[in-house]
Amino acid sequence: MRLLITAGPTREAIDPVRYLSNRSSGRMGYALAESACEAGHDVVLVSGPVTIPEPEGVQLVRVETAREMFDAVQLHLSGCDAAIFSAAVADYRPVIVGAQKLKKTSDKLVLQLERTEDILGSARLKFGFRGFLVGFAAETENVIAYAQGKLERKGCDMIVANDVSQAGIGFDSVENEVTLCLPGGRTIALPRQSKAALAHVVMAHISSSIQPSESSLQ
Ligand code: CTP
Repeated sequence: MRLLITAGPTREAIDPVRYLSNRSSGRMGYALAESACEAGHDVVLVSGPVTIPEPEGVQLVRVETAREMFDAVQLHLSGCDAAIFSAAVADYRPVIVGAQKLKKTSDKLVLQLERTEDILGSARLKFGFRGFLVGFAAETENVIAYAQGKLERKGCDMIVANDVSQAGIGFDSVENEVTLCLPGGRTIALPRQSKAALAHVVMAHISSSIQPSESSLQ
């Protein structure tokens, strides 16, 4: 089957030398891509800037900003049987990007920010995606309740939820501990383990839940 996976952070420019971003390492998304590839799936990996090596056998599309990730997903989503949005997309970007490096002219600087494109939220509504849709939720409180809300709002079939208030898991960590949230309020708690091991378990759940679409059978 054909899978699209987003991974890593995005960078939103402030000026030619500065940007807004986050601590995502891309490890979870890359581990999922490798695991999907090992399972024999065709994988398109749309990745923000990361320092981990390019996985073998995967079609890697490198992007920097949320806008670029949105465009790349729109381009590659059709014909996919499943899409896994593990990227930590910046939710806001500066309204004005300095053409030159900003100089220190005052004690305080106010940056005006605007919302970026909601890529996961666009999959069903804007891109007309009908395959198996998986989102990620990184929360610091009410983890399951927020994840279930996200599942319904964004038309997902699964949300991989993790509690980022716990030390040593999630963002920029080698290990992760997640709960799979499914329609109807069902949940599957997975124990803490390496992201590589977890990727195999999550991918097995996804593989057993999806049927190849007609387009990928042609
Ligand atoms: N995501 C996305 N595009 C964005 C922001 C997030 O595709 N601009 C995806 C992430 O890849 C992840 C999920 O959405 O799969 C995370 O959602 P989040 O940003 O936490 O969702 P919101 O419902 O916007 O919730 P919050 O208010 O917590 O930000």
